[in-house]
Amino acid sequence: MHKYNRRDLLRNGGALLAASSLPISMVEVAFGRDSDRSFTFAYISDSHITHIRGKEFVRNWDRGLIRAVAEANLLDPKPDFFIYGGDIAQLGKPEEIDHGLEILSGLRGDVRYVMGEHDYYTDLGEYWRRQLGPDHYSFDHKGVHFVVLNSILTHESWMHQRWGSGMDRMKQMARLDNPDGQPFMVGSRQREWLRKDLETVKKDTPVVVLSHSPLQKIFRGWNFWTDDAEQVQALLQPFDKVTVLYGHVHQIQTNQIGNISFHAAMATAWPWPYPSTYRQKESYLPKLTVEMNRADPFFERDATGWQFINLHSGRTDVSYLLPDNQNRVVAFDESVGHPVDQNQKGMTGRKPPQRHY
Ligand SMILES: [Fe+2]
Ligand SMILES: [Fe+2]
Repeated sequence: MHKYNRRDLLRNGGALLAASSLPISMVEVAFGRDSDRSFTFAYISDSHITHIRGKEFVRNWDRGLIRAVAEANLLDPKPDFFIYGGDIAQLGKPEEIDHGLEILSGLRGDVRYVMGEHDYYTDLGEYWRRQLGPDHYSFDHKGVHFVVLNSILTHESWMHQRWGSGMDRMKQMARLDNPDGQPFMVGSRQREWLRKDLETVKKDTPVVVLSHSPLQKIFRGWNFWTDDAEQVQALLQPFDKVTVLYGHVHQIQTNQIGNISFHAAMATAWPWPYPSTYRQKESYLPKLTVEMNRADPFFERDATGWQFINLHSGRTDVSYLLPDNQNRVVAFDESVGHPVDQNQKGMTGRKPPQRHY
């Protein structure tokens, strides 16, 4: 198997073009005075481990996660830690969560977990929390403040209405295009927790927020959406450099709202399509000029992947590792003030939509 190293990945990074043909030591120099604050981590998301019966699980989804774990372990230099971005399970069954965690136990290093709606709605996250601990928390690493949020909550009244079973509730939320679905939200209690958590963080400290749903409003019809996104963004607005990394959408998305850079993760299970469908209804994404290759049903790994994240100077470069597909790098470009997909450079001139506070 090909061994991934940082130089291979950075070679794709246009923001680092000057360094792209230089040895790795020179790449470090390119980060200048902030080089001591540079570090990397790997991000794996949306494996949707699906239980069939007994010890049988859907093979394709298993294979995606197994491959991501194997590749992430080969990174050189070794990432400081791993993030799992949510939707470990398909229907929130303990068998699915256990099976996914067993595969993820192969990662050589610490893993921080984010709750996905497919992990949550059968038992309102009880089994997940028993295995993995709280669903929102923060930690600091090499001068960067990380916050993990559970962004897939919804109205209490809907969660606790009379359901035939928890599985009935899950099946409502597990559908992509359910018109009876509910919007995701962080909720007032967690927003208050976030406000307090950020109180002691200096405004020039880089902040990285990890959520499952986008903390921005992209497409309500498919719940690529967090209903109280603006309220969460307002809490993050006072900080100089903020990055939000999210899963859930199973495709590459990038945006910049004020000081906040947004990056979506690929899934290890399957891609959701880009987005002629977006055009049918109000969409908040900048116009997408290059569509993702459509999934080939005869190729189990098509348009799936995982991410390698280089955090330097408080900004992130996200390298998308797409099996047997062209790898992509989305890097923060200081000259334009937002992340730029290096493979699309020069093709987009539009400024992302801005909201003001
Ligand atoms: Fe997902
Ligand atoms: Fe999800």
